Amino acid sequence: MKIVLKDGYIVDPAGKNDGNGDVIIDNGRITGIRMSANASQAKKADTDGAFVIYAKGLLITPGLVDMHAHLREPGFEHKETIETGSAAAIEGGFTAVCCMPNTNPVNDSAEVTSYILNKAKEASSCKVFPIGAITKGQLGNELVDFDALRKAGCVAFSDDGRPVMNSLLMRQALEYSKASGITIIAHEEDIYLAEGGVMNEGKVSQSLAFKGIPAAAEEIMIARDIILAGLTGGRLHIAHVSTKGAVELIRRAKNDGIAITAETCPHYFSITEEAAETMGTAAKVNPPLRTADDVAAIREGLSDGTIDVIATDHAPHHKDEKALGFDKAPFGISGLETALGLSMSLVHEGVLTIGQLVEKMSVNPSRILGLDRGALTEGSEGDILIMDADKEWVVKPEDFVSLGKNTPFSGRRLKGRPVMVISGGEIFDMQDRKAL
Ligand code: DOR
Repeated sequence: MKIVLKDGYIVDPAGKNDGNGDVIIDNGRITGIRMSANASQAKKADTDGAFVIYAKGLLITPGLVDMHAHLREPGFEHKETIETGSAAAIEGGFTAVCCMPNTNPVNDSAEVTSYILNKAKEASSCKVFPIGAITKGQLGNELVDFDALRKAGCVAFSDDGRPVMNSLLMRQALEYSKASGITIIAHEEDIYLAEGGVMNEGKVSQSLAFKGIPAAAEEIMIARDIILAGLTGGRLHIAHVSTKGAVELIRRAKNDGIAITAETCPHYFSITEEAAETMGTAAKVNPPLRTADDVAAIREGLSDGTIDVIATDHAPHHKDEKALGFDKAPFGISGLETALGLSMSLVHEGVLTIGQLVEKMSVNPSRILGLDRGALTEGSEGDILIMDADKEWVVKPEDFVSLGKNTPFSGRRLKGRPVMVISGGEIFDMQDRKAL
């Protein structure tokens, strides 16, 4: 099928387009971009026999790419499945999602990777890219067979949910990365310093009398991994950055010429540790929500390019698990459906331009993982987000497509929402969804 998006505002930093124009998609691939300034007479021929979508007043961007999500399948289908998670991704504007390996069994073998890819082929509305574990069972003792996992379709390796505490294994993983070009995504947490902690170590943990997780638990491991990246030349990507000290370490490493990349998540630039007092376990996440100072530093890091990517760390949990109380409930926020609205606040507040936002939510994750995405150039994947940047809406977890309703943003008014998503040649139309 041929689709023509007419008269939208195209934001495509990779293809260096920023202005009004049309996008033509044929058989799931982009076959033409016509910027209004140089519109050609070919226009009529383009729309003949095509499904035409009028996008006046709307933004057209490459489909968003989430390089950090938990789809929970196999093993935790009561929290999420590949089908529900990918549908939540589409709802949030994402046309590609990379899924972390902390499933049951862990994605540490070609069999599990193939299982995920087969499920995705059957049931997924968007593209799913598996991330393999670094160590067998994510136990931190023995490296996986990287080659086998890569051949099966893994696009990166991570023990996310847990750190690789053994520095020798992390060195070897980064050496493999150097040799193969694949990215190692590091969950940075010194488990000894973090042991038993359930929220940020600070004034809220003191007042609620819960054990805290100090910023140092994250920063010490980031410092170690920067040193190992320098030693090996491997491609290190630092997951879910949450502290001011972490931003400073990454900035310094980049200035020193160490080729690392980093991501944060919307909750780390939107709310602080105080959310635990009002939102309870919906605000329990690892790394924990930090202080206003940390939030300011994360925003600065996004703005000056220290932080390359906004990922969701979509971590759906069942409501009975989140009802266990702050000390026992699992860590995690269901993030796919709020990520764009929360991130658009950075654009509305002047922290990022819309082009920079598209870089952080589509171009850069694609580049870091070597995915053929994130651009609206001719011949590229016709996966597209059509967004109303000014559409106001209120977060209602009960309306989430994700099985995980665990969000600390319930009731929050956001501005900016997908209107349509085109994924794999299919059009998902969200226009009749209730706004407020
Ligand atoms: O909050 C989190 N939840 N952080 C992680 O690193 C893992 C994730 C999960 O799998 O629930």
